[in-house]
Amino acid sequence: MSPEMIAMLAIMTTNPLVDYQNSATYTKDIKPLFAKHCTMCHNKNVMPWADWTDYDKIFIARFKIRSRIWTQRNMPPGGGSITDKERDAIKEWIDKGAKK
Ligand code: HEC
Repeated sequence: MSPEMIAMLAIMTTNPLVDYQNSATYTKDIKPLFAKHCTMCHNKNVMPWADWTDYDKIFIARFKIRSRIWTQRNMPPGGGSITDKERDAIKEWIDKGAKK
């Protein structure tokens, strides 16, 4: 393997942005974002009709979620502490099939 090839592989495996775009999964990458920014409100006690603590429910609602966090940007209410990069990561995950 050439040194260039090794350098490229090193970049691909250590760059978190590349990781999000190519192989983000709910369990590894997205669940922590929901835990940090959504599930204090969106859980089965507070909002049982919009419980984002569960992969299957998130999967079913993913286009609604995409619209609120990325297109309309009105979730979390008032903006919360979510960053643009985190919004992009959730959007990309949904666009790439919302893998578990
Ligand atoms: C401070 C509490 C709070 C936080 C944090 C919050 N939400 Fe919400 N969310 C609400 C409330 C209240 C509603 C219902 C009112 C409305 O539709 O705007 C709602 C509605 C929604 C809906 C529409 C649900 C439906 O069935 O129509 C989606 C999708 C959503 N939120 C996604 C999210 C996502 C994703 C996050 C995290 C990035 C998040 N919300 C963070 C309080 C919150």
